[in-house]
Order: sequence, then C-alpha cells, then structure tokens
Amino acid sequence: MIYLDNAATSFPKPPEVIRAMAGVMEKIGGNPGRAGHAGALAGGRIMENCRELAAQYLRVSTPENIIFCLNCTDALNMAIRGTLHQGDEVIVSHGEHNAVMRPLMGYHAAGKITLRMLPPDERGLLSPDAVRAAIGPKTALCVLCHASNVTGVIQPAREIARACHEKGVPLLLDAAQTAGTEDLAPIHADMIAMPGHKGLLGPMGTGLLYVGKGILPRPLREGGTGSASESMLQPAMLPDRLESGTANLPGIAGLSQGLKFILRHQGAIAEYEHFLALRLRQGLKNISGLTVYGADDAPRVGVVSFNIRDRDSGEVADTLSMQKFALRGGLHCAPAIHAWLGTRGAVRASLGPFNTEGDVDALIAAVGEMTK
Ligand code: ALA
Repeated sequence: MIYLDNAATSFPKPPEVIRAMAGVMEKIGGNPGRAGHAGALAGGRIMENCRELAAQYLRVSTPENIIFCLNCTDALNMAIRGTLHQGDEVIVSHGEHNAVMRPLMGYHAAGKITLRMLPPDERGLLSPDAVRAAIGPKTALCVLCHASNVTGVIQPAREIARACHEKGVPLLLDAAQTAGTEDLAPIHADMIAMPGHKGLLGPMGTGLLYVGKGILPRPLREGGTGSASESMLQPAMLPDRLESGTANLPGIAGLSQGLKFILRHQGAIAEYEHFLALRLRQGLKNISGLTVYGADDAPRVGVVSFNIRDRDSGEVADTLSMQKFALRGGLHCAPAIHAWLGTRGAVRASLGPFNTEGDVDALIAAVGEMTK
C-alpha cells in the first residue's frame, strides 16, 4: 500500500510509539493519580512527561494547561461548549470542519448563539481585516481552521489572532492539519485543539487542548480526578477540571514518543512535506483533464486535492485504492469549503514524513493512466 491519507491519520508511526504503548500494557499496573503504588506513580509520570513535551512544542511554560482529549473533535467540543454563553456571537472561517461547524450550528439552530461565517479571498485566505471588521460587541469567540484539510491552504493565523486580540476576542485554533508540522507558538492563539494521531504521530484516541491564560472552560464531563476527592464538586484547577475518568495511558505514552520525534525533526518534516506536495501538485497539474484545488501562491501543508473532469471523487479514490493507493474522496467533513470550490467532493492525497518521491511519482503516473 502507498499510504497517502495522513490528513485523516498519520501512518506509519515511528516504532518507538508502538514500543511505548506496548511497554505500558506490559509493565505498568496502576491508574495514574488514583493510588500511591509504583505502577500508579509511573503512569502519572508518563502523563506529566507528555504534557511537558506538548508544552515544549507550543513553547508555553504551563504544562497543566495542556488537556488530554480523545481526538481533535473532542478538544474542539471542549473549547466551544465549555466557553460559550447564551447570546454570544461566534466568527468562523469558510474552511471549518464539521468538528467545529456541527457544535456551533447546533447552538445557532437552538437560538443560543449567532454564527458568522466569513468568506475568503480568491486564494482561499481569510483576511485579518475582515475579522477585525466583523467583530462586534457580542463576539465572544473566533474559530479558525489553521490549514484546510481539503486545499491544504494555511491561514494567516498570527495576524488573525492579533486582530482578535485588538478587540478582546479569544481565538480558538483548529490545528488538526498543522499540529506537529507548523510552529504554532508565534500565533499566540488562546486555545489550540490538536489531534494526537495526525502530525504529532501518536495513536488514535489521543488529542490535546491547550487552554491559554485566563480561560477556564466548563467541563463537558465531570467525575473522579484523583484530586480534591473530599469535594463533590468538580475541581476548578487545570488539568483536573477537564480530565475526569481514567486516561488513555498507552495512547499518551505513544503520543509522548510522537512528540519527541517531531521535536527532533519539526522544521525538517514541514519542509519535506512541502517539497513532496509541490512535486505532486506540479505532476498532477501537467495531466490534462485534471483540476487541482487551492491557489499555487498560498502557503500550504502537504494536502493535495483534485478531480478528474466530472468523475465522482469517491469512485476515483476507490479505483486508485484497488491499485494500492490509500486516498480519501468525498467531502472530507468540510462541506463549506467544497461549496466555495464549487465541488461535490474531491480526491485527496495527504503526505506524511514517511512518504517518498517514489510514492508521489507513482500516484502521478496512476492518475495519468486513468485520464487517458
Ligand atoms: N478530518 C480528517 C480528514 O480530513 C479525518 O480526513
């Protein structure tokens, strides 16, 4: 198989991720924070180490503000549902994934919030000035998909964060496609939702939410935290407030190794994926009858989407999967950007650090054959 579906989940994982997960299952008996015996303490150290590595990646000095989640959707739900109030207005970009749109549209349809979706410019970029102009007295949150999972285009997040901050509005950054490859620290987002299993190279069932200073989301889930057990009320302090119940310790151990890998190689991974994506875009663009989406001159991650004339993208992806390519067709859970592109779906190839030029060239050749 030639795996080109890293935007859905990265594969393969570094071997140390798998070893760490197996190591926890084999050697660690104990529930972190729930007892004082050696296994429980060792588990607790694994969790704190992972938090510290994530804090190192984000260059923040407060690992306790990194919350373990199930995935990026979970992190986004925690941030959105945990901070909004009746009557709030929320600003979003057109590139949002359903992980953002569904909770917000649900609130909007129930009359709880007002939602404003801002259109992009012709390159697919959201203008910081448009954000600044859209913010009104009721705006309580701006949510930004950092890089589209359809076009790969990276938004000017730092400038958008600045526009939000000028008006006193927090920015929630959906880093589903950028965590692990892009440097998120200079953006100064107030909350950052990250999948553990994509660019951070950890296993599925892991995600992280960074909660910035002065923000204390209401928990979606309450229960045992192993702390302040004399109180029947949920603790106020982070991370306990948002982490009730037993953690995914094997997953967190694996995620730590993924974080170590990306901390060692971060700039190089982004550069390599850009190089491969450019090669793929150029190769596909040379094939007649093909539309490749996203402006050439916009900054982007390693995601390349295309269609062959008016052929159904799901059918094209399935045909290519029979020829050993793992791709994703359809709407990618991001219908608004497909509406903006004027597509009913697209075939997506998404690159990871373990792809090669040979993988890219093989896909270009296979698509070339299909269009003949
Ligand atoms: N959001 C992920 C994708 O784009 C699953 O495929």
